[in-house]
Amino acid sequence: MCGIVGCIGNKQAQNYLIGGLHRLEYRGYDSAGIVTIGSDQKATLLRAKGKVSELEKLADKNKSISTIGIGHTRWATHGEPSKTNAHPHKAGDIYLVHNGIIENYKELKSELKKHKFITQTDSEVLAALIDSLYDANTTLADAVNQALKLVVGTYGIAVVSVREPDQIIVARSGSPLIIGIDDDETYIASDASALIGYTNRAIYLNDGEMAICRKNGVELRDLASQPISAQVETIEVDMQAIQKQGYNHFLLKEICEQPTTLRSTLSGRINTKDKSVLLSGLNLSSAELRKIEHVTIIGCGTAYYAGLLGSYYLEQLVDGLTIDVVAASELRYRTFHLPKNTIALVISQSGETADTLACLREIKRRGVKTLGIINAVGSTIAREVDGGVYVHAGPEISVASTKAFTSQVAAITMFGIQVAQAKGTGMQIMSKYIDELAKLPDEIEKIVSKYKDKVAKVAKRYAQYEHALYFGRDTLFPIAMEGALKLKEISYIQAEGYAAGELKHGPIALVDDAFFEVALLIDNWLFDKSLSTLEEVNARGGHIFAITNSKKEIQAEEVIRINTKLDILAPILINVVQQLFAYYMAVARGNDVDQPRNLAKSVTVE
Ligand code: M6R
Repeated sequence: MCGIVGCIGNKQAQNYLIGGLHRLEYRGYDSAGIVTIGSDQKATLLRAKGKVSELEKLADKNKSISTIGIGHTRWATHGEPSKTNAHPHKAGDIYLVHNGIIENYKELKSELKKHKFITQTDSEVLAALIDSLYDANTTLADAVNQALKLVVGTYGIAVVSVREPDQIIVARSGSPLIIGIDDDETYIASDASALIGYTNRAIYLNDGEMAICRKNGVELRDLASQPISAQVETIEVDMQAIQKQGYNHFLLKEICEQPTTLRSTLSGRINTKDKSVLLSGLNLSSAELRKIEHVTIIGCGTAYYAGLLGSYYLEQLVDGLTIDVVAASELRYRTFHLPKNTIALVISQSGETADTLACLREIKRRGVKTLGIINAVGSTIAREVDGGVYVHAGPEISVASTKAFTSQVAAITMFGIQVAQAKGTGMQIMSKYIDELAKLPDEIEKIVSKYKDKVAKVAKRYAQYEHALYFGRDTLFPIAMEGALKLKEISYIQAEGYAAGELKHGPIALVDDAFFEVALLIDNWLFDKSLSTLEEVNARGGHIFAITNSKKEIQAEEVIRINTKLDILAPILINVVQQLFAYYMAVARGNDVDQPRNLAKSVTVE
């Protein structure tokens, strides 16, 4: 979704602004813009519809040596994607970039008679509001402060004024903002990836805080204008992590690097010798772990499916535990009840997903302990949960989530083992889980190297279809839904994931020559039942691509048989094959793999 950058110092601002916006491209956007202010107090405003490269061409023709500026990538909410609606928005002497949604913008707009509105955005209303309060006796910081008191909604903003070209004002409520600190240079970004290579020292703004950023200092305040002391943190991501490193797409890189990222998730946390797990960030004593009777898991999209798969593992690991897994976008408006001794697991790659964050806050308000399973270090959810596990999968740039899923499932499983340890239940199954977790990175490595080319070939066979049906039983049901999600978001093929046993209750009516089916099978006690479903689909003229760990005969157009020693965690390997399949399907269809249409990496609005 929308991205913000800004800088003030001695260096040419344009370079950081354009470079920073390129770094934020992965978040998804449809237009981009920058404004810089020269020493003559004149502003240069450049905006373009489409890619940052279009904006960059404009910047090349309008080189500016000014050392202060702000920039934005916009993901349209109010008003179509267009150059006019692109940020920064101008009102009088000020320019503003905004992430989030101003909910009372219509009301505010009707009061702002003096401003001639030229866009359909809620953000221009905020710019006009600040301008209306910015008279000769008011500082920019005070005008922003007064305006924010009148606003209902969410925002991360950066504002500059030609009258005060020595500062950028930033503020946050519900939309992340980070201030990067270097000697004589202050940077602003809505996402740490824009700061990498510029500085590794950063202040994460909290909701309700604003800051006056100058080239050699940052002054933090709350909305009551009370000073706040800044906590400078270290960003620990290196340049390598945000580069393609020879891969054609970030997605392929992220699928292939799963052995390494998963090793980071497991590192120092599982002990295969004494068969134990230690997650040190849970902030729960053994007594508190023993008391857990119910787990509520929330997340969106892939994080939700990771939670769903994790729930199958949790209930095997912890005797008597009850679990519910709910999509955060649903839970937030439901009248839900949390039984006593509940722990909530909040799953999010970005740690910024608006629906998930809203649920977290509601659950906390009810006094229930929350644990985060989060990838992005320092993200809002990670900062607000009571404890949790960083999955340490590194920056996930491609919009389609892959490596985060694998690490999230591993983290939930480790959590289950730790609860089981505390309760002293399921010792035998626990040790099997620990052994399989330890082997999982090597197994993924084998799968990727051995089956990549074969999957690419299979994808060519199915790339012309417009409809797909994924099905699997038990732990393969969440995997089927995740496989379908991955396929639809990057190949734009209509794809549905079903529990294999549900096919007869409706979806089997879809089987015809316009569809192909992805059948997921594991050689376990349910294998014969899965085979029956396969036969039923075949009998109706299905076009089946089967992915299995079985050596037994399977009737399908294409079969990929993974060779693995794993048993309970084999679904994760099957998912890796599906990830590769979705990738090669998208490539075969000539799609923008890393930034699929209409999608954003981090969904920070409802
Ligand atoms: O950052 P989060 O894990 O909270 O994101 C949740 C979903 O938006 C995300 O998983 C989305 O479904 C992905 N595009 C799936 O590939």
